[in-house]
Amino acid sequence: MIYHDSEHRLWVLSGPSSSYVLHLDEADRPRVMHWGPRLTPEQAASLLLRLPRPGFRPVEDPLEGSFDLIATGGLCYGHAGLQVRFADGTRDLELVFTGQRRTDRELVLAYADRHYPLAVECHYRLYGDVIERHLVLRNEGEPVTVVRADSATWVLPRLNGYRLSSVRGQWGAETRLHRAELPYGETVLTSRRGVTSHQANPWAMVDDGTAGEEHGAVYSCALAWSGSWRLTAQRLPTERVTLSAGAGHDPVTWELGIGEELVTPVCAGLYTEGGFGAASRAWHDHQLRHVLPHAGEIRPVLYNSWEATGFDVSLDGQIRLAESAARMGVELFVVDDGWFGTRTHDAAGLGDWYPNPHRFPDGLGPLIDRVHELGMRFGLWVEPEMVNPDSDLYRAHPDWVIHRPHRRRTEHRNQLVLDLSRPEVGDWLYRTLDELLAKNAVDFLKWDMNRPFTEAGPDERLWLGHVRTLYDVLDRLRAAHPHVRIESCSSGGGRVDLGILRRTDQVWTSDNTDALDRLDIQHGFSQLYPARVMGAWVTDSPNPYTGREIPLDFRFHVAMAGVLAIGGALTEWSQADLDRAAELVADYKRIRPLVQHGRQYRLLPPDGELSAVQYLASDGGEAAVLVHRRARRFGHADPGIPLRALDPDARYRDTATGEVHHGAVLLTHGLFPDLAPGDYASALVHLVRE
Ligand code: GLA
Repeated sequence: MIYHDSEHRLWVLSGPSSSYVLHLDEADRPRVMHWGPRLTPEQAASLLLRLPRPGFRPVEDPLEGSFDLIATGGLCYGHAGLQVRFADGTRDLELVFTGQRRTDRELVLAYADRHYPLAVECHYRLYGDVIERHLVLRNEGEPVTVVRADSATWVLPRLNGYRLSSVRGQWGAETRLHRAELPYGETVLTSRRGVTSHQANPWAMVDDGTAGEEHGAVYSCALAWSGSWRLTAQRLPTERVTLSAGAGHDPVTWELGIGEELVTPVCAGLYTEGGFGAASRAWHDHQLRHVLPHAGEIRPVLYNSWEATGFDVSLDGQIRLAESAARMGVELFVVDDGWFGTRTHDAAGLGDWYPNPHRFPDGLGPLIDRVHELGMRFGLWVEPEMVNPDSDLYRAHPDWVIHRPHRRRTEHRNQLVLDLSRPEVGDWLYRTLDELLAKNAVDFLKWDMNRPFTEAGPDERLWLGHVRTLYDVLDRLRAAHPHVRIESCSSGGGRVDLGILRRTDQVWTSDNTDALDRLDIQHGFSQLYPARVMGAWVTDSPNPYTGREIPLDFRFHVAMAGVLAIGGALTEWSQADLDRAAELVADYKRIRPLVQHGRQYRLLPPDGELSAVQYLASDGGEAAVLVHRRARRFGHADPGIPLRALDPDARYRDTATGEVHHGAVLLTHGLFPDLAPGDYASALVHLVRE
């Protein structure tokens, strides 16, 4: 609900349990009066009485850092979310309010520079307690350089302390949670790589330092953008804190020609109470309701052949794997890299998206038919934004890659990036994939992007343009092939964000499939993103990447925390493992509606001896608990694991043992899962309300 008090130039944007209150001051600056628990319009208006008396003007603006649109100019010395350079070199913006447009859920506040022909609109859209915010800049007269256009600047109220939560990582070690006091100055989370990145992810949470998993207020924001980005968490010495986020990194700028418009991506903000767990659940809920396409679908159990075969792809080999996967209960069979062009290793073939004629002399038809006959859907790996210099595409169009004259073309994994900001490249990309999907009965694409940009040069359009074309091609392909589902992958989890999730169905979380490492990666992933999109494979032991040996049940019980998949060399598994795997797949299918669509409670974090996560059906009727013991230390007995959000007066039956537990006892004394005595013990407990 959006309420406007014209007399006081006040707007109150309220979700079910929070409010965001804006007031336009006498200088037309939108001051954030409140972001926190819900206020009535009357309560919100009373905040104006508490404003400092006008007249006292110290050298530094005492209100610096309290506006939701901060433009360069005047006495503003902190981070400005909006920075421009006019043709005559002027960098100061002097915005005057020009009007508003408003519905129940949407608000547009419009401004224009008082001299230069630049219009700025701030758009707000309410989804429950989530506020989506973006900017529209319109050049109405003379060229202007946009230096920075953050989609949103979120202003926090005064707290007793400030602690920042975010994720950091690298290839094979994505989304590891980092929680530390926010230092004074500017903390910059950023990607300069052209993709969202493994190193950082475009979201942040701030609390006062006392919030826990299930208690405390949390302020968070997340940017919906899959290219380079920058999130600035600023803490001024005056204890004002802002979170400002937008596309592009320093020093990328954008030339806005006459009559042109720049529409920024969306940055969403959310205030929650109930700790980090409640914040995560609210973000999960938002994505399931408003971000993901086909959010209501159950994601199938997938098999992917990459770890089993590498580039050694053959029709017979794939069919053998498919038959084994089908017996295990797999529902979607995905052929990874190595099926196309001359791609028998990673130095050739990217760009040539036709089946390798030696490996598939009759095309993909025979394989696809067999997979469908086995009752599974068929998926294919593509990496269409890339080209190997050793490919027909590159030989025909060497100028299609991102490059600069007089500079080397830096190769990474022997490949270069196609410049999607060039219209002919975007057209080729769409045509090629459209044809691939039209000619082959493909149900699923794993869309990979394995290297960052280099030599991108001063043509700044490329940084935004590449992502825009990517989004456009994905949108058009989905419209033309509505049955096709897409997985976003970028060397594992390098392109996971609310922008790509608007147009893909799941993501590949990490190339690291070691179940122990995965516990940390998945814990960080779950802070913002729901289990419904988190691809998680069970692979071989010892793990091909880390060499660690982990029992099959533990590997499954870790992967069951998301969209379960199998990625092992099944033809080398023992019959006992294949049989046990089939049982575990069946177990997962029983609980997956809870995992994929229920509410998630992180019961115990992954850094202790025991970790656990619970999923609760939205009607509270069923719960699934996954428990992992990484190591038993000192012969300790396992403690009970208190569950969350159950009905204390209800009884819950364990579907495996038939044992009946009282809700009140599970909530206080906890669950004692029957774990094997040693290291790497795990359990799945499925409880149904009686
Ligand atoms: C990337 C992906 C892997 C696999 C390979 C294939 O590394 O993350 O899952 O698809 O590419 O080359």
